[in-house]
Amino acid sequence: MKRSVDEITGNRRMRRNRRFEWTRRLVRENRLSTDDLIWPVFLCEGKGVSEPLAAMPGVSRHSVDRIAGEAKRVAALGIPAIATFTNVDLGKRDMEGSEILNPDNLVNEATKAIKDAAPDVGVITDVALDPFTSHGHDGILRDGIIVNDETVEQISKAAVLQAQAGADIVSASEMMDGRIGAIRDALNDAGFQDTGILAYTAKYASVFYGPYREAVGTDQMLKGDKRTYFMDPANTDEAIHEAELDIAEGADMIMVKPGMPYLDIIRRLKDEFGVPTFAYQVSGEYAMIMAGGKMGFLDEERAILESMTAFKRAGADAILTYFAPRVAEILNDA
Ligand code: PBG
Repeated sequence: MKRSVDEITGNRRMRRNRRFEWTRRLVRENRLSTDDLIWPVFLCEGKGVSEPLAAMPGVSRHSVDRIAGEAKRVAALGIPAIATFTNVDLGKRDMEGSEILNPDNLVNEATKAIKDAAPDVGVITDVALDPFTSHGHDGILRDGIIVNDETVEQISKAAVLQAQAGADIVSASEMMDGRIGAIRDALNDAGFQDTGILAYTAKYASVFYGPYREAVGTDQMLKGDKRTYFMDPANTDEAIHEAELDIAEGADMIMVKPGMPYLDIIRRLKDEFGVPTFAYQVSGEYAMIMAGGKMGFLDEERAILESMTAFKRAGADAILTYFAPRVAEILNDA
């Protein structure tokens, strides 16, 4: 016996709401706005320098004087915050990453410059040691081991220096145990109760960081991999345990990194904890979309916007993306 479609679906037709742009607009569940964007930027030494990155078309490293102009540009676009990453001269890198404890280092000088140029743009710095070590690891290396507690001590001091320079939020991307609590204590002891902490809670040992390592100059020097401190891409329960610790230790927001391959983790953490949860669309994700566009295999702009929507749908409150200025321009023009 052949039933009509209405008999099969009980008179429900999902396509009715998809018929017109205006119905699609009315029933749309997630909306992207410039309020959701954080722009990660790369810094380099020198004056008047903007160096394009081969693996990230459209992205450059900027010297401190140039980053001030970039900060003004994103302020005008309505982007709430910038996250800085540095490429210091190779001569300044050592086994301990001690340059991070120089109060006038590249990251701190850039914070001051951004705050001068665009006081209302949030500055998010990072305490990981990888841009400052001669081996490219995120912590102090002793006898082949990234030593946890000594690294935590060092990055806690670095967090205070970054706060002193004017950072609004310090982030911790190195995945050492106990780091969030130690940074919180150090900030409080130094009178920076109001400086926030963004925890890279679920940071995976991922191949998608490739272009970033070129950008900060660690690609040539990194020996081995980061699997003794970053998470195994096969794990998801482990992200819950990491989040429990980070939140208990005082994280103001948590993050999942990379982004698109880990949307399930964003959704799990958001559902489980309901705290501000950010996504990091990393350098390799940027490179893939740009490569697809350049090759003519996909529409670059639509791929960018669809990836942003995917983060919102997964539950991300904000997205760190190298596309931030471009997304803001598209949204502002719409
Ligand atoms: C390390 C760090 C990484 C990124 C930012 N900080 C990963 C790594 O090099 O292992 C990746 C960012 C990106 O790929 O866009 N502290």
